[in-house]
Amino acid sequence: MSRHLLSIDDVDAAEIERIFATAGEMHDVQRRAVKKLPALRGRTVINLFFEDSTRTRSSFEIAGKWLSADVINISAKGSSTSKGESLRDTVLTVTAMGVDGLVVRHSASGAAQQISQWVDVPVINAGDGMHEHPTQALLDGYTLSRRLGSLDGRHVAIVGDLTHSRVFRSNVKSLTKLGARVTAVAPPTLMPAGVGDWSKADGFATSYDLDPVLGDVDAVMMLRVQRERMSGGYFPTAREYAVGYGLTRPRLAMLRPGTPILHPGPMNRGLEISAEAADAIDQSLVLDQVSAGVAVRMSVLYHLLAGEEEGTNA
Ligand code: NCD
Repeated sequence: MSRHLLSIDDVDAAEIERIFATAGEMHDVQRRAVKKLPALRGRTVINLFFEDSTRTRSSFEIAGKWLSADVINISAKGSSTSKGESLRDTVLTVTAMGVDGLVVRHSASGAAQQISQWVDVPVINAGDGMHEHPTQALLDGYTLSRRLGSLDGRHVAIVGDLTHSRVFRSNVKSLTKLGARVTAVAPPTLMPAGVGDWSKADGFATSYDLDPVLGDVDAVMMLRVQRERMSGGYFPTAREYAVGYGLTRPRLAMLRPGTPILHPGPMNRGLEISAEAADAIDQSLVLDQVSAGVAVRMSVLYHLLAGEEEGTNA
């Protein structure tokens, strides 16, 4: 496996399957009363978060702790970047304390890649701007494959604000690597520029029309409308967005019975997803994704860090 996890480009299908297999073992640990494994004892992982996060940061924190690593959280608000320190100085200062791995979230696309060139420890991208969020895609793929078995030939619709979504970019790569057929659905204003050439190169379909897609999918992934990344008017009103692209109660009935529903969170209920869909018993995998997130991040930390000195890196 590559030294860093900056993008889904860093892992091939076999490596993704290996990450899933280890995550499966880690998932069993979550059900124990005593959850600690000794794999990263004596190692220190820093969560360096320059952008807001609840679930991703705490998921990485729990993952590191259950592997017995010391985990330190640094968020931009309380850090010296708000005193004018450059990103490079912040990163070099933090790593000079003797850390073994960095988990980075930043609002600039390419930030994790840049940081990986400054330090000599593994860097995990926990979301860089509108670029990638590889562990989210891995936990989504893991959650789906636990529900559906092999994803080979399965049809997954990814629906929503695709322009601003790093989750979309990582998932397209990861799901297609696993053999799934992906259809990207968004209004024209939220479909990424240049998606035509890209979808041909990466082998996924696109649609501006959600309804005809729904009856044909094995799973549907709803993505958040990222208002904080929007400067102009991408759609007239929230209501119009919900009517056109939300997983509303009527649309729920267009899915084949039992079709799983994913959402990486945070959800805007009533906008991209209705309460009926978010809470659909046996169909909504939203909380399964959260719980899988810890297992998958344990697996990624294990594969990148545990072998570092022992030469047992799988
Ligand atoms: C996503 C993110 O931050 O990229 N959320 C997450 O990691 N749980 C998606 C989003 O913000 O909508």
